Amino acid sequence: MTDSLTDAQATLRANDRGGYTVPTARLYPFQWNWDSAFVAMGFSTFDEDRAWREIERLLQGQWADGLLPHIVFHAPSDDYFPGPDTWGTTHTPPTSGITQPPVLATAARLLFDTAMHRGDAQARMAAIYPALLRNHRWWQQARDPRRTGLVATLHPWESGMDNSPAWDRAMARVPTSTSTPIRRRDTGHIDPAMRPREVDYQRFIHLVDCFRAVAWDPARMFAATPFRMADPATNAILLRAEQDLLVLAQRFGTAPEQAEIAGRIAGLSAGIGTLWNNRVGLWTARDLIDDTPVEVGTSAGLLALFARAASGEQSARAAATLTGWAGRVRFLVPSTDPASPCFEPLRYWRGPVWAVMNWMIAEGLDASGQPELAARVRADTVALIDAAGPMEYFDPTDGKGAGGTAFSWTAAIRLLLAN
Ligand code: DGY
Repeated sequence: MTDSLTDAQATLRANDRGGYTVPTARLYPFQWNWDSAFVAMGFSTFDEDRAWREIERLLQGQWADGLLPHIVFHAPSDDYFPGPDTWGTTHTPPTSGITQPPVLATAARLLFDTAMHRGDAQARMAAIYPALLRNHRWWQQARDPRRTGLVATLHPWESGMDNSPAWDRAMARVPTSTSTPIRRRDTGHIDPAMRPREVDYQRFIHLVDCFRAVAWDPARMFAATPFRMADPATNAILLRAEQDLLVLAQRFGTAPEQAEIAGRIAGLSAGIGTLWNNRVGLWTARDLIDDTPVEVGTSAGLLALFARAASGEQSARAAATLTGWAGRVRFLVPSTDPASPCFEPLRYWRGPVWAVMNWMIAEGLDASGQPELAARVRADTVALIDAAGPMEYFDPTDGKGAGGTAFSWTAAIRLLLAN
């Protein structure tokens, strides 16, 4: 094994807190939803039992209505804001009250495909399947109550791409007033120049206050929020997860469940089609409050390829857009169009390269007949991690690692890319 793979395995082991993995020590001291899905895939390359455990621990946070919260607070920590008191939810263990991109069914399927013939894989997958199904039903009921084919994201944290320029226009209408005092801890761990700004946090917490005030009731949240977006990443990840859940349903589910999932797949496929933005040459978010498309290209807009939801023409155009970006930065894939005035190569989701995005984008490029571009994205990802270590993210202009160090999901992707 190369040093880099040994380091990646050691990173996952070091961030293990007893069956669940923190994204990184101190900055993120709990279990995060989509982080853990990638972590489970990473563990599947060398410790299948531990990979199942990661998923099982995340599901301990699932709510009765099917919501899979974005954070499960398994053990207390003062290193993070906002903690359980700010969320004020009633679940045990404590959780946040919003969600994150639903990668979990895709991770479970990958793990099952790897482990199927070994150990107790059949029984463990059979136990997980109903929770995944309940979660996908929640997405439709809570986030697409009018059955438009697109699920809504109600908080930038739900997208996982907190300060993406895709949210700038919509976030401008979110008040900066909060009833919760803001006590940021992240900027004590990380250079503030790499993190969201103060005004972003005021708006993030305003939204949390707003949802707590309606007791985390999905219908009331949907109606009350001043931020309601159709995110191309969340919708594409959900569509891909539904496709993976359908494969699992053929083994673990019933015929009516398969038909139900197929119905949601048809709806989401049509919905994502409406996010194609010909001016940008990618899929872009749409503001569901005033029905306005976002006009800035971000890496989220490449994930329709991962969901196999693109026409031949759209795939070719999206690949050309990405090739254009490659002419402006040394490493793919910058999270924001490097020609955009919003591009900031070191500030979190406004420019840096994220390994998990690269993994999904490369899968999507392969699936849409762009193997050379897929290989380029994978090679850049490996080069970045091998030079800088498993950092949280990377500067696309010079490859410098940034954000948190010894980061779990980056390590997980390094392991997946070796397989
Ligand atoms: C954070 O705190 O930065 C997270 O992205 C929110 O989940």
